[in-house]
Amino acid sequence: MSARRVLIAGNWKMNCLSADAKALAGGLADKMKAAGAVNFEMLVCPPAVLIPTAVDAVAGSAIKVGGQDCHMNAKGAHTGDTAAAQLKDAGCGYVIVGHSERRTDHGESDEVVKAKAAAAQTNGLVAVICIGETEAQRDAGKTLDVNGTQIAGSVPDGSTAANTVIAYEPVWAIGTGRTPTSAEVQDVHAFIRGELAKKIGADEAAKTRILYGGSMNPKNAKELLALADVDGGLIGGASLKVEDFWAVAESV
Ligand code: 13P
Repeated sequence: MSARRVLIAGNWKMNCLSADAKALAGGLADKMKAAGAVNFEMLVCPPAVLIPTAVDAVAGSAIKVGGQDCHMNAKGAHTGDTAAAQLKDAGCGYVIVGHSERRTDHGESDEVVKAKAAAAQTNGLVAVICIGETEAQRDAGKTLDVNGTQIAGSVPDGSTAANTVIAYEPVWAIGTGRTPTSAEVQDVHAFIRGELAKKIGADEAAKTRILYGGSMNPKNAKELLALADVDGGLIGGASLKVEDFWAVAESV
């Protein structure tokens, strides 16, 4: 049994209006309260503008709220961006950084992701650092190389298990209904933990949660979450319905 507490994280991406956010976060909070003691931690990551709505809706439950991105700088002339301190101030405990959609849509490099993760950690947020290979990289046999390089480049020096979560999200599995086999997921996660050990030491790496993301749903969650080095999930589509997201969490 691993001592790592399983984290079930929902990445809402650019979905929901305020009424949806209220119903979704509120519905999960009701489930959480009714469930009492659970063997997982639950996190929802709404679009920035809906964070206050979600924070209100989960009040009184154990559910945590996180951002989907933050700026690397503390404040200033960065139109449209959100500072880590602002997320913290709004009630967030976590922030996703380096999601493949941000790496692609906004050209974020490992260096940028590392600076964002450091800003999150400095401001008392847990950085959920995303990595993962594209389909072309996988087909070229570069899966481990790519993930190793991303760990080396995206994780700040001095990161700890308390302020860092890694999310392995194969880009080709996101929103496609396709996933690697369980054996492949376990192999990559074990490799990532080894690379993380080189970066932050074996003790911290052993305590750090590594989430799997990419088409996780109520049907495949049980098998994926049972893998030795899988410590939770980062869930997109299936995090947008109370019943689906709760079913994923219940399969822990
Ligand atoms: P899906 O669960 O929709 O595949 O999205 C995964 C993801 O990108 C979570 O960050």
